[in-house]
Amino acid sequence: MSDFQNLLLSTSGNILNITINRESKLNALNQATMLELRQVIQSIYEDTDIRGVILTGAGEKAFVAGADISEFTDLNEMNARKFSEDGQEIFDLIENCHTPIIAVVNGFALGGGSELAMACHMRVATEDAKFGQPEVNLGIIPGYGGTQRLTQLIGKGRAFEFTMTAEMIDARTALAWGLVNHVAETKDKAIEIATSILSKIASKAPIAIELAVECINAVFKHDENGYQTEANAFAKCCGTEDFKEGAAAFLEKRAPEFKGH
Ligand code: COA
Repeated sequence: MSDFQNLLLSTSGNILNITINRESKLNALNQATMLELRQVIQSIYEDTDIRGVILTGAGEKAFVAGADISEFTDLNEMNARKFSEDGQEIFDLIENCHTPIIAVVNGFALGGGSELAMACHMRVATEDAKFGQPEVNLGIIPGYGGTQRLTQLIGKGRAFEFTMTAEMIDARTALAWGLVNHVAETKDKAIEIATSILSKIASKAPIAIELAVECINAVFKHDENGYQTEANAFAKCCGTEDFKEGAAAFLEKRAPEFKGH
């Protein structure tokens, strides 16, 4: 993978770790970082060796404190739609990725940072994490898919309160609201939890995992009938060698050996 200016990449086994690395700006997402994110996520689509991704922010203070406000001065009604759509497209790539992506949310996840975490398949937060959509403080609204994903994850009433008051919530509230899957005492522990989830998923049949992502996301697509997507995906799974192996292994009381076809 190419060298990035704003992302740190490392692998541990078949897990790729992506760290947003602009600690002095609380990992705010400038356009250069967004382009790098697009590039790295696209590369995961083509890489069958990577079986899971952990996305986090450098340092202890922030996951991502939002889109980079210093780049907002040029935004106007004409170019802001593209700004929003480009960001949405990158976050859609994350959400639709066949490889599971877990956000390890350390510290602030604000604005685009909260939206980035929500685009991931799961979220593990540290005890000191703080989530917020402070856009209304700046006279805007979330533009990277936040209004939609918030409503999906925490429900309409809470999404209204969260977005319209711009109040931050702590990790425990985020857990109670369903915004995060787990809360851990430290970042290391959060990475341990995320790694353990990804390792479990890596032992399953890859095609089944890919299709589970497609079907769960289909619930929220207006132009798609999620039940039909599920039936099609179920049929596709039943045509795979891994399905035969999974069923045979169960009946023969042994662990399955999935090959990904
Ligand atoms: N965009 C650009 N720069 C940002 C940023 C953002 N979203 N969030 C933080 N930074 C920068 C600050 O400007 C500061 O840079 P400087 O040292 O060059 O002045 C640095 O990161 C540290 O932030 P600072 O505000 O000094 O830290 P703090 O501990 O006092 O406050 C926050 C932390 C997160 C509460 C505060 O930075 C903040 O409110 N950030 C903006 C959050 C936001 O509105 N995000 C949504 C954007 S749509």
